[in-house]
Amino acid sequence: TGISPFQNEAFVDFSQPENKKAMEDALTKVRATLGKDIPLHIGGEKITTEDRIVSINPGNTDEVIASVSKASKELAEKAMQTALTAFESWKRVPAAERAGYLFRAAELMRERKHEFSAMMIFEAGKNWPEAEADTAEAIDFMEYYAREMIRLSETNEHKPLTKVPGEDNKLSYIPLGVGVVIPPWNFPLAICVGMATAAIVSGNTVLLKPASVTPAIAHMFVELMEEIGLPTGVLNFIPGSGAEVGDYLTTHPKTRFISFTGSKEVGLRINRLAAETAPGQIWIKRIVAEMGGKDGIVVDETADLEAAASAIVASAFGFQGQKCSAGSRAFIVESVYDEVVELVAEKTKALRIGVQEENFPIGPVSDKNAYEKILEYIEIGKGEGRLIAGGGKAEGNGFYIQPTVFADVDGKARIMQEEIFGPVLALGKAKDYKEAIALYNDTEFGLTGAFFSKEEDRIAYALEDMHCGNLYINRKCTGALVGAHPFGGFNMSGTDSKAGGHDYLLLFTQAKMTARKI
Ligand code: SER
Repeated sequence: TGISPFQNEAFVDFSQPENKKAMEDALTKVRATLGKDIPLHIGGEKITTEDRIVSINPGNTDEVIASVSKASKELAEKAMQTALTAFESWKRVPAAERAGYLFRAAELMRERKHEFSAMMIFEAGKNWPEAEADTAEAIDFMEYYAREMIRLSETNEHKPLTKVPGEDNKLSYIPLGVGVVIPPWNFPLAICVGMATAAIVSGNTVLLKPASVTPAIAHMFVELMEEIGLPTGVLNFIPGSGAEVGDYLTTHPKTRFISFTGSKEVGLRINRLAAETAPGQIWIKRIVAEMGGKDGIVVDETADLEAAASAIVASAFGFQGQKCSAGSRAFIVESVYDEVVELVAEKTKALRIGVQEENFPIGPVSDKNAYEKILEYIEIGKGEGRLIAGGGKAEGNGFYIQPTVFADVDGKARIMQEEIFGPVLALGKAKDYKEAIALYNDTEFGLTGAFFSKEEDRIAYALEDMHCGNLYINRKCTGALVGAHPFGGFNMSGTDSKAGGHDYLLLFTQAKMTARKI
């Protein structure tokens, strides 16, 4: 084929005046579209309902991003029937042709990347580089999964079966059926696009229930797919409440798989509900669930302490700590503990807080519920550790919280064990690197981790013993790149689905063996 090898999208440098200007223009353009009504998309139909989700700017809560129609159970059922019908034709479209839709969508998104980023700056409270990285990752997912589907469809050439005399045998990866895709709000474009397009390119049809905090950016993606001519009914857009639409579709007998990214609590609920067999159901539902993390960084006494402190701060406070990969704890060997604590406090206090339109490093947290929950955890932290930076609300007409650091926190403390999903970092002391790694491993989660050291034998020990899906050495624990760092975690972090890796599309397909006597 004439398709170039996959390459990650380069990040735009906003210190260049022309790039800064391009983003400012995109912000102006997107601001003019704010406040509009967004309908459901079911097949070719756009449906407006009375019941709405109102999406607001978390950094300026007077600004309405969109008023989004909400699906009822009846509309969810209509979407299911539409997706079932569309599946009958979409599953017969050749893999290379399905991939072609993703290539076209990636190209168009690349042309308009700042508009997608601008929408996330308004709707999700991302700063410019975080929004840019999100859009770049969305493009990467489409470019990568398109190539992966082509590779899987040619699997007999790449991974031939053992030949049996007198037989022609083949293995092919066929789609599953209708899938419910429930993405998170924290990577409201990248993860939404990755989850939806992986399912679509594999030949499935999708019911996309966007995160209620960020439906407008998800809708921009749905419109893009419509614009590039994706057949109607393949991707249906059904915003709604988890309790109503989410549960209805999770328990539906025709749902073949559910792809979820979000909290542990919701992931476990989906897993439990989906395990029940509804009357008329003829399969075991497939569950792909990427859940939380209580990720951390371990620093030994040989490490570059300046680099380690910078990585701790970047991992803890990138996008206000609202990443499942966020390094919300760090364990530091006692001989360098005070020095690292001092550096972390200093670097954290230097982070400026403000509106994301103006690209302040720290913006608001996602919404009122998150804001209240994080502030509660900060109060809990005051009883569990020594406050060395931040400690409460920050000024602004939105959900602003100071980046907050607690030192001298016990490994069993609540702020060391529970996922806070906000700008709160806990630091703990260990007598040596082995004890620090044991403290790191003492969690029900297992998503990301990082180890800082200059000693080869210790690095070898960490590589073997730190139990997480994505482990990094001498660098931060966030920012996995598609293709380079397949992403997913162990234990209560989910099903270790490894998004952006060679194994991912297998989750949305089933292998069919055929052997023909010749
Ligand atoms: N993939 C993101 C990261 O690595 C988290 O979802 O930070």
